[in-house]
Amino acid sequence: MKILFYMPNAEAAAWLHDFARALPEADLREWQPGDTAPADFAVVWRPPRDMLAGRSDLRAIFNLGAGVDAILALEREQPGTLPANAQLIRLEDSGMAPQMAEYVTHAVLRYLRRFDEYQTLQREGRWQVLDPHPRETFTVGVLGLGVLGAHVAQAVAAFGMPVRGYSRSARQVEGITTFAGAAQFDAFLDGVKVLVNLLPHTPDTADVLGARTFSRLERGAYLINVARGAHLVEADLLDALASGQLAAATLDVFREEPLPADHPFWQEPRITITPHISALTLREESVAQIAEKMLALERGEAVGGVVDIERGY
Ligand code: NAP
Ligand code: GLV
Repeated sequence: MKILFYMPNAEAAAWLHDFARALPEADLREWQPGDTAPADFAVVWRPPRDMLAGRSDLRAIFNLGAGVDAILALEREQPGTLPANAQLIRLEDSGMAPQMAEYVTHAVLRYLRRFDEYQTLQREGRWQVLDPHPRETFTVGVLGLGVLGAHVAQAVAAFGMPVRGYSRSARQVEGITTFAGAAQFDAFLDGVKVLVNLLPHTPDTADVLGARTFSRLERGAYLINVARGAHLVEADLLDALASGQLAAATLDVFREEPLPADHPFWQEPRITITPHISALTLREESVAQIAEKMLALERGEAVGGVVDIERGY
């Protein structure tokens, strides 16, 4: 089995080391510009177009993340970049779901218990008790009920807030009130106090976090975006904060990453910023998952996490 690896940072050696341990029979190599020698599988994160274009030998491309928007953008910009016969396979959880649950529950509880406001009061040297938000009306709406969204929704629901989930096709998740499809989008949003975004970035979901969506939420709502920066209309967020329609936002992802030093979000105290860390790709778990799938494909078995290129996730 020949495996081609690409990652645009200095960690490739450690990944190759772990893949060699998991698949001792495999012939592994890090892709270098000009390498067109045959390979069965590619393991990539944000690969350059040249690595994949014209590779009719590849049977599968493993994406080292849950989101495949960057790799699908290569195909959209130049159709035919992705080898027609290769399956595109994304990571499924591989240790990301518990991280997402920690991040989102932390943010939801911070807003429920008004810790963000107490932080401001402390800075001002003020001892003041704020009226608690009633838990029973602190409705949390999770956009996306996939591998990560369903796990996050249930983790939040364990704290007793009403939790809703929204997906493309109808889903049942225990303890969660579910909504599906464009026809139920407004019903999902109406009265939501905390909107959590865990949608994939596709042509259908781009800009979903904009003025219209914000206007349906309960006044003084909170936004938690842990999916992609392209989901958020940045100017609409600033307007919604200025008008009081939104009270605060926690953002882990941005249209431009790293967030430029002169970006207005840095100066907005109601926005909490983290540098795309809500769920990191964990090497040990990811190598184990990918190696298992490669062996399954070698045996002619079907595997999970295959991306529907038309659908975009
Ligand atoms: P997933 O399992 O593919 O789930 C996607 C969910 O979104 C599904 O429930 C799907 O509906 C729903 N969906 C897709 N398009 C929709 C549409 N047009 N309308 C309504 N619902 C739609 O993905 P995942 O593994 O949970 O990951 C979700 C995203 O999280 C990734 O794509 C990535 O962008 C982001 N992410 C971010 C980080 C980070 O560190 N910030 C880390 C990992 C992942 P169906 O159930 O009907 O298919
Ligand atoms: C990270 O953002 C991922 O998509 O896994």
